[in-house]
Amino acid sequence: MRKHFRALGAVLTVGMGCTLLGCPKPDANPPTPVGGVQNPVPAGPVSIAVIPKGTTNSYWQSVKQGADAAAAEENTGGEKVKIVWQGPEIETDFSQQINLVNTQVTSGVNAIVLAATNAESLDKPCKDAMAKGIPVVTIDSGIKSPENSVCYIATDNVKGGALAADALAKQIGEKGDVGVLMFAKGSSSSDDREKGFLDEIKKFPNIHVVSNLSTDSDTTKAVQVTTNMMTGHPSIVGLFGANEPGGVGAARALVTKGLDKKVKLVAYDASADEERDLKAGSIQALIVQDPFQMGYKGVKTALLAIRKQPIPSKFIDSGVQVITAPDLAKPEVQKLLHP
Ligand code: BDR
Repeated sequence: MRKHFRALGAVLTVGMGCTLLGCPKPDANPPTPVGGVQNPVPAGPVSIAVIPKGTTNSYWQSVKQGADAAAAEENTGGEKVKIVWQGPEIETDFSQQINLVNTQVTSGVNAIVLAATNAESLDKPCKDAMAKGIPVVTIDSGIKSPENSVCYIATDNVKGGALAADALAKQIGEKGDVGVLMFAKGSSSSDDREKGFLDEIKKFPNIHVVSNLSTDSDTTKAVQVTTNMMTGHPSIVGLFGANEPGGVGAARALVTKGLDKKVKLVAYDASADEERDLKAGSIQALIVQDPFQMGYKGVKTALLAIRKQPIPSKFIDSGVQVITAPDLAKPEVQKLLHP
């Protein structure tokens, strides 16, 4: 891992309202103090549970790299911060994730950094943790009630969905039938991208969304869903894969069916497979987030809460951008893709 000791100086999003999560504007709600029991500032080493939505997709490995980098900065001269990394096997298993959160609370971790598989279902486990004086920082995919975490660090996924719609419209000459591959109804990253994409694509009167199906954030399923979608809608000239499995699975299906030159594909994330497909031309554009920073700032913000230091904002925008094949030659893009 290339050393990335990026200042925590977060890109604070001022005046940014979220959508489904109702994230407050920073000046609207001062940072939420951890509710309920006020645990004392620990004198010795602390443990922070980092609980992703899943562990299969490479995206989460970038989150883990960021979390580990933040802990490494604290651990010069001896272990002061221990990261407990645990996530569900599949990203739609919110029951398992609830159990992981509750188990970590029972085990007495000092803080939790969580990417919620479901905004509703993980709300109460976070509320219960905070009531016991265990601060929760949400990353990537938030929870329903902002007061049940001390900070939310994520991509503005409504903006990301809109960027995907504009990029796909450009690729297909602003006309034709398109298909959408979402991944997890009820998870804010999926719902916000869907909202952003569908609202933006309406600006192009000659583009019609003819199919919108879920991949359940599973690459194998994404291959099958894309294959079925193309069989049912042979008129499709463009696809939006709304996360890594959707991008990789759709590209694989298009190449297998010999459609990768006819159908344009815009995909979220930037796994090694997606980068390869972008170079090969089976993906035309990637919507790239910064999972490393989500993990890094998630742990750093959790430490601020543990140490009862001020948290600058309730929402930190970790950034999103569109990259195409020529952009891969840029050092800053390589640094983003390979932290
Ligand atoms: C994908 O799921 C989303 O929650 C992340 O933002 C990423 O796009 C990883 O499987």
